[in-house]
Amino acid sequence: MTGGAEQRARELRRLIEAANHRYYVIDAPTIPDVEYDRLFHELQALESDHPELLAADSPTQRVGGKPLAGFAPVRHRLPMLSIRTETDTTPAGALAFDARVRKELGLTEADAPVEYAAELKFDGLAMSLRYENGVLVQAATRGDGETGEDVTLNIRTVRAIPLRLNTEMPPEVLEVRGEIYMRRDDFERYNEKQRTQDKPTLVNPRNGAAGSIRQLDPRIAAQRPLSFFCYGIGESIGWPVPVTHGATLDALGALGLPVCTERVVGQGAAALVAFHQTIAARRYRLPFDIDGVVYKVNRLELQRRLGFVAREPRWAVAHKYPAQEELTTVEAIEVQVGRTGALTPVARLKPVFVGGVTVTNATLHNADEVSRKDVRVGDTVIVRRAGDVIPEVVSVVLERRPMRDLIAPLHPTFEMPTHCPECGAPVIRLEGEAAARCTNGLSCPAQRKQAILHFASRRAMDIEGLGEKLVDQLVERGLATPAEIYALTRDELAGLERMAEKSADNLLQAISASKHRELARFVFALGIRNVGEQTAKDLARHFGNLDALMSADVAALLQVPDVGPVVAESILAFFAEPHNRTVIEGLRAAGAWRDGEAQPLVGPLTGMTFVLTGTLPTLTRDEAKARIEALGGKVAGSVSKKTNYVVAGTEAGSKLIKARELGIAILDEDGLLALFN
Ligand code: IVH
Repeated sequence: MTGGAEQRARELRRLIEAANHRYYVIDAPTIPDVEYDRLFHELQALESDHPELLAADSPTQRVGGKPLAGFAPVRHRLPMLSIRTETDTTPAGALAFDARVRKELGLTEADAPVEYAAELKFDGLAMSLRYENGVLVQAATRGDGETGEDVTLNIRTVRAIPLRLNTEMPPEVLEVRGEIYMRRDDFERYNEKQRTQDKPTLVNPRNGAAGSIRQLDPRIAAQRPLSFFCYGIGESIGWPVPVTHGATLDALGALGLPVCTERVVGQGAAALVAFHQTIAARRYRLPFDIDGVVYKVNRLELQRRLGFVAREPRWAVAHKYPAQEELTTVEAIEVQVGRTGALTPVARLKPVFVGGVTVTNATLHNADEVSRKDVRVGDTVIVRRAGDVIPEVVSVVLERRPMRDLIAPLHPTFEMPTHCPECGAPVIRLEGEAAARCTNGLSCPAQRKQAILHFASRRAMDIEGLGEKLVDQLVERGLATPAEIYALTRDELAGLERMAEKSADNLLQAISASKHRELARFVFALGIRNVGEQTAKDLARHFGNLDALMSADVAALLQVPDVGPVVAESILAFFAEPHNRTVIEGLRAAGAWRDGEAQPLVGPLTGMTFVLTGTLPTLTRDEAKARIEALGGKVAGSVSKKTNYVVAGTEAGSKLIKARELGIAILDEDGLLALFN
C-alpha cells in the first residue's frame, strides 16, 4: 500500500512546490488558496499516516523543529566576496568601471566593446544556499566572507526558495548565492498587523530581512514575509556552468530559483549608463528597496582573467545613486573619544527621517571638516544617509543661518577642546594627522570603554551580551582592562542596572565560552592600531603563536604578506608598551586564546625580494605581484642592496638605473615567467 501513498506524496509535493514557485517566484498564481490548502492538508495527513514517507524536502517541513541555542559556523568552500563601490554616483561612474576593465584586459580603442551584465543591487542579507543532489541541505550567511552562520532552518521557511531543484538530473553540488530581502508591501503589511496587535514593528525592510534570518526561533522567521533573488553561484560539482554570467542566472531560473527579471546584458559602457538611468527613473516604483545597480563582466573567461584585488573582484562594481538627503538643525556639537583616543565632533540634530530611519546625530569627522563646512549650533544643515554608513552633515544652508549669528555670532565657530572631555588629559594633534587625540591612553575611561567593547565585539572575541550599556557601567565601577572581564563574578554583575540574575549567568556563560578563541581573533581583539581583521589573520597564520608575534622584529614582520613598515611599526609599538604586556599576561592566565601552528607561506621564491618597474607586455603589475607573492616572494617599492631582482618593462625609469648601478639582476617579463616555472 505504501507504494501508492509514496507516489501520491511525491505528486502532492510536486504540485505544492509548483504552486509556491508560481506564487512566490514568478508572481503568477494559478491555483486558488483553498485548493493549495487542500493539497497541503492531504500531504500532511499522508505523512502522518506514513511517517516513513517524510522527507527533508517536503513542503510540510518548511517550519519544523525547536528554537536553536545558537547558529553553527559554516566555512564557505569558496569565499563570499564583496564588490567594490564606484565612488562617482553620476553615470560617469559606469565609464570609469569600463575604462578600468578595458585597461586591465589590455584592450585598445580598436577592440570591440566588452559585454556586461547589469543587475540590481538588492538591499538585504547575502546568503549561500547549498543544494546536494538537488536538495537544499544548507543555508549560510556571509559572515566575514570565509565563515558564516548556518541559518538553514530559517531559510527553509522562505517559500520562494525551492527545497528541491526543478530538474531530473540534479548536479552533485550547486551553491547558489543571492540576497534575502523583504518587499516593501510585505514590510508594510507585516508592520500594520503588528501595530493592530500592539506588537513591535520592523524598522525598515532591510533590517526586517536581516533580523528575521538571525532569529534563533524558526517559527518567528516563518512569520516574516521574506523573499530571495539569486545573483551568482559558489561551488558547483557536476553542473555544466554556462560561459556567461547572464546565462548562469538564466540557468538558475530554469532550476526554479528566483532570479530578478530587472537585468540586461549589453555591449560596452553605453549599456551600463543606459541601465543606470532606466533604473534611476524607476527605483521608487520597484516593489523592493535597492542599494544601486551592479555591473559584471559577462563572460566568465574574462572574469577569470581579471581576477581579484583583496576580496573584491575586478570584474564587478556596485554603482549607487546619490544618497537620500534631508534638512534639519544642529542642536549641539559634542566631542566623542574613540578607541585610539581620537576626538570626533558629533552634531546632535533635531530628529529627522532620512532614508528609512530617524537620524539624531551625525559625525563631523574632525576639526578640519567642521571648519571647512563651518557648522555651528543653530544652523540648518543637509544630512545624508547612504546605505549603512553613519549619517553625515553634507553642508550648512547659509541662507537659513539666524541673522543675529551673522552679525554678532551667538554661536561662535567650533573649536576642538584642548583637554579630553572624558578624562581632562591634554589633547594633541600630530603633524599629518587629521585627528586630535587624548594623550591619556587606556587611563582615559572613554578609550578604555571602546577598547573593551572592541575586544568583546562579534568579529573579535565575540562575547555575546557585553554591549555598550554594560561596558559603560563596568568601566565606571573600575573595570580597567579586557583581562579583568574574565574575573567578573556573578555578584558584581548582578549589582548592575537592568541586570537580572538570568542575564548575569548568561553573560558569565558567554565570557567563559569566549575563552580559547583562535589566535587571529585574539590579535584583532587587542586593537593594535592599523591591524584589522585580515592583517590579524595573516599574522596569526604566519607566526602561529602569540609569543612568536610578540618577539618578532621589523624584518620578521615585513615577511608577512601585506605587512608594510607602517603596520610593522604599530605592532612593535603596541608590544613595547609595558601596560599592554601586563594585560596580555592577564589574558594568558585566563586562557583567552589558543595558539596554533605557524604556516608561513614558503615557496620557491621565499626570501627573495623583487622590484617591479615599467609596463610589462602582458602581465599587469598586480598580477605580477600576486604571482610572486603566491610563490613566497616579496615585492618592494624601491631598489636597495637587499633587492634580488628588478623586473623591468617598457618605460622603466630610475629604478632600472639604480639596479644597474647596484649590479642587481634585471629580468624582463619572459625572464620572470621562466623563473615562475
Ligand atoms: S555579486 C562577486 N550581485 O552586495 C561579487 N552582490 O558587496 C559577489 N548584493 O553582500 C556579489 N545585490 O549580498 C552581487 N546583484 C548583486 C547583488 C549583490 C546585492 C550584495 C551582496 C554582498 C554585497 C557585495
